[in-house]
Amino acid sequence: MDFRFQVMTDLDRADIRHWHYAAPYDFYDLDADPEDLAEFMSPPPDELQLAALDDAGRVGGFMVFSAVPGRAGTFAVGLGLRPDLTGQKGGGAFLADGLAEARERILVDRFVVRVAEFNKRALRVYERAGFKIVRRYMQPTNGSRYRFIELERAAESGPERSIE
Ligand SMILES: CC(C)(COP(=O)(O)OP(=O)(O)OC[C@H]1O[C@@H](n2cnc3c(N)ncnc32)[C@H](O)[C@@H]1OP(=O)(O)O)[C@@H](O)C(=O)NCCC(=O)NCCS
Repeated sequence: MDFRFQVMTDLDRADIRHWHYAAPYDFYDLDADPEDLAEFMSPPPDELQLAALDDAGRVGGFMVFSAVPGRAGTFAVGLGLRPDLTGQKGGGAFLADGLAEARERILVDRFVVRVAEFNKRALRVYERAGFKIVRRYMQPTNGSRYRFIELERAAESGPERSIE
């Protein structure tokens, strides 16, 4: 699916905050963690939030780019396709297009992604986009602690969308 990216509006945020994923991905429901939800709804000034709009102008996904403290030019990427669009092999193109869009808007050298270890689906999309594992750690979130994997890649080094 082709998306048009735009800086996220309050209306987009009000839509996305109510998205609910089927288990086990309900882990990613924004309202599963009050802190994550609060940051999403009131992003810090150095965070870029993009909404991905489909042909009908409906939000089909979002991407959030947060500056990593102490690492100039490195941004952590958070993302989600709209729940009904997941699992249909659209994630690779969505990721590639969103990263390309971010490169047009921010000065970025490296992208970081952090994914729960159980989320093999997202991990596969990230690794196919050229991200490499840099560490494994425990992350407190959603009222518990989870095994997480952090991956990185140079901003410019991803495969072209056409060969995904
Ligand atoms: C992560 C996300 C972008 C992936 O996009 P997607 O279009 O749903 O993913 P795809 O359908 O392309 O699946 C990716 C791969 O994972 C595989 N996969 C799917 N479910 C799997 C599972 N349970 N275990 C292992 N592999 C799985 C698919 O077969 C596919 O691999 P293949 O192309 O080699 O066959 C999307 O699911 C999403 O936005 N989810 C929302 C929540 C989320 O996970 N956010 C990520 C936060 S880090």
